[in-house]
Amino acid sequence: MTTTASAHPNIALIKYWGKQPVPGNIPATPSLSITLDTLESVTSVDEAAEDTLLLNGEARSDAKIASYLDLLRQNFDVPPLKIETSNNFPTAAGLASSASGFAALTTAIDQHCDLQMSLDQRSDYARQASGSAARSIYGGFVALGEPDWIAEPLLNSEEWPLKVVIAITDTRQKTVSSSEGMSRSANTSAFYDNWVTTTREDYLAAHVAVRNRDFDQLALLAENSCLKMHAVMTTSIPAMIYWRPATVACIETIRGLQTDGLKVFFTIDAGPQIKAVCTPEHAPQIAEALSAVPGVMSTTTVGLGAGARVIAS
Ligand code: PMV
Repeated sequence: MTTTASAHPNIALIKYWGKQPVPGNIPATPSLSITLDTLESVTSVDEAAEDTLLLNGEARSDAKIASYLDLLRQNFDVPPLKIETSNNFPTAAGLASSASGFAALTTAIDQHCDLQMSLDQRSDYARQASGSAARSIYGGFVALGEPDWIAEPLLNSEEWPLKVVIAITDTRQKTVSSSEGMSRSANTSAFYDNWVTTTREDYLAAHVAVRNRDFDQLALLAENSCLKMHAVMTTSIPAMIYWRPATVACIETIRGLQTDGLKVFFTIDAGPQIKAVCTPEHAPQIAEALSAVPGVMSTTTVGLGAGARVIAS
């Protein structure tokens, strides 16, 4: 009998970029994120003669999934599995498909194989596959930091129901994986050490801002964290420049909306898409403004969602 789980992508407001040189895929920076609704990875698992993977309906082999299954099998009894996973949004284009994918996969395998993992364990295992996946185990506002590097829920989606307008500027898959990009940055960016040190401070300040639901303070911290991460990316050798002209034009548009008094801030991950985080009443106006930016292919407005969960078994 098949078991199916769903998980949503999350977007870091305080970014994770860089790994500690120790086993366990331990981030070099703490991070704080929001889990989205609407966008989702749906993953089904069932026993099979050998491991197989269907991603969005296509047979694939995936080294990350294979080594994740190896890791689980070192600690649990997990038989060969047929895994089917699909995303209702572009895969690997800076919309955090690995976060929702591994959160859904961990949740489906846990239930299907009766591993009886706690939420902490699910987050811990998901992190070992993809750092950001640890956070998609929970909904709403989520923190991931020292000492355990297990996600911690801060506020659920109803406690501060912000909206996110996503502007898609390019749907091509990224060519450099996050892991490769992070090690390149650690080895070559002149700004990397400062990034790691200051992110610890930003993370603590963002906790306070979230607890106080202080939009302006969170906006300041989140935009700065995003710009610092991209400064590290662009000063890595070779440089990783993810922005397109439309990405920059969206930043300018958001700056204009802020000047007009709208509660909105931007964030950008390892891809060219812009995510405009805002209060619900301003979302339609922000979506309209971003849709009109030349080079924006489409916009989608989503809210904050729930954590990973089993939807059929
Ligand atoms: O989880 P990974 O290994 O795909 O890395 C995610 C890195 C960023 O999305 C750029 C930032 C973050 O904290 O999600």
